[in-house]
Amino acid sequence: MELHERIFELALTRSFFLPSNEPYGSAGGFYDYGPIGKLMKSRIENLWRRMFLRDEGFLEVETSIVTPEIVLQASGHAANFADPVVECRVCKARVRGDTLIEERLKEGFGESHGAKWDGKLDTIDRLIRENGIMCPKCKGELAPAAMFNLMFKTGIGGEQAAAFARPETAQGIFTAFPRLFRNHGAKLPMGVAQIGKSFRNEISPRKGLVRMREFTQMELEYFFDPAEQGYPDFAKAADAKMRFQVNGKTEVMSAAHAVKEKVASNEIMAYFLHKEWEFYRKAGIRDTEMYFRVLPKEEVPHYSKGNIDMEVQTSYGRIETIGNAYRTDFDLGAHAKFSKKDLSVFVEARKERIIPHVFEVSMGVDRMFFSILEHCLREKTADKEWEWFDFPPMIAPYPVAVFPLMKKDGLAEKAQDVRGLLRDRFDVYYQEGGSIGKRYAKADEIGCPYALTVDYDTLKDGTLTIRYRNDGKQERIKITDCVAKIEANIAEGKVTL
Ligand code: GAP
Repeated sequence: MELHERIFELALTRSFFLPSNEPYGSAGGFYDYGPIGKLMKSRIENLWRRMFLRDEGFLEVETSIVTPEIVLQASGHAANFADPVVECRVCKARVRGDTLIEERLKEGFGESHGAKWDGKLDTIDRLIRENGIMCPKCKGELAPAAMFNLMFKTGIGGEQAAAFARPETAQGIFTAFPRLFRNHGAKLPMGVAQIGKSFRNEISPRKGLVRMREFTQMELEYFFDPAEQGYPDFAKAADAKMRFQVNGKTEVMSAAHAVKEKVASNEIMAYFLHKEWEFYRKAGIRDTEMYFRVLPKEEVPHYSKGNIDMEVQTSYGRIETIGNAYRTDFDLGAHAKFSKKDLSVFVEARKERIIPHVFEVSMGVDRMFFSILEHCLREKTADKEWEWFDFPPMIAPYPVAVFPLMKKDGLAEKAQDVRGLLRDRFDVYYQEGGSIGKRYAKADEIGCPYALTVDYDTLKDGTLTIRYRNDGKQERIKITDCVAKIEANIAEGKVTL
């Protein structure tokens, strides 16, 4: 069984995630987070808030999902946000033309046949013809390829003015920017970010959380004066080492070196790459299995002066989990043109108005979540006869469990008191029934790093045991110390005694 298949099974049985609307057969590309997954997803988002917003002094917004057509005409999504689709003449199945060819040529003919698509529909039709590619479902003949816009269309109000579910959260930030700028100091640089749902009507959604039709993005737009390509805190990041892949070659480089060698567009980009590297490590992704891929010119979007993706190795192969783009003044310039409003800002140092440039960090929460599950799953061993998750305490769904050794003799009541003490500060996993060994196993299975057990000594001397998930060892601490102890352990990332 492939690792992603096992993760899917565990996700279902341990309530991490599940297909949406299951009784009705679940449309592809839609997933719900269960109670355990939702807790962990929120922790990932909060860690992002702390590292990318609070630490940097940036602003968080929440903008509308339904977006009028003109906004997406300005951004280029209405015209360009499309994938090539081919339809089977027999069973009417629709598949993505470029991926179908890529997969077929890799499988049947080897990568030397150069399966990368050049963006032309004719090429897809020719390769399908030349290689005898048929419908993957029924082996029927495929009709010529056509472009299919990935946005979900809707209508606003009685007149049904055309609108779409946003394909990225970024556009709402760009359209809110002029007012935010005036209200919040009217000075560049300025960072604005949001977490929210984005929607893409993928032709062939697959690979679980990797290619979804509704997914969560955490996007940060950093507005700056193009004359100032430095980052105020760059010195903090200059020596940080990260792995880059440039022209297919992987090398370790410091942030300063990446700027010097023009691998990163500027200090701003290198600074954020260093933050992303730290963020991923803190969240439990192995740094030996992640790297920044510098996109070659032909892959850089039309609005960008340079793109670098974070890629993570998973059992599906490498997946792009973060897109970094130097978006220049493309978006604000386009919105100024389409809205016929002046979206420039006054820069005191220059004594003139400019359209700010933008550097964007666009992260997908779901792909990151899935990567963490894969990287943190631990096999059964002689000591632990169950598969468990080695989540860093900071993002574990429940950071702490509380168990009474027995339900009787006042132990459950005392354990409830301990739970009450902790509940203000942490989400607490609480279980009374069954053997204590089984309850430890259950806590391990959802990656809970610390379990506090109330026993007969607790009633006598006000102490309890704290058990560490990774080595199963225990120490005795006072109930009055347990909040501080858990807090300190989480901050340290301590998972063994
Ligand atoms: N604003 C720029 C933007 O949206 P993107 O590379 O299209 O850039 C950014 O998306 C991130 O969003 C990706 O790196 C990925 O993590 C996530 N993402 C994109 N499409 C996705 C999908 N269909 N399912 C799950 N996550 C997706």
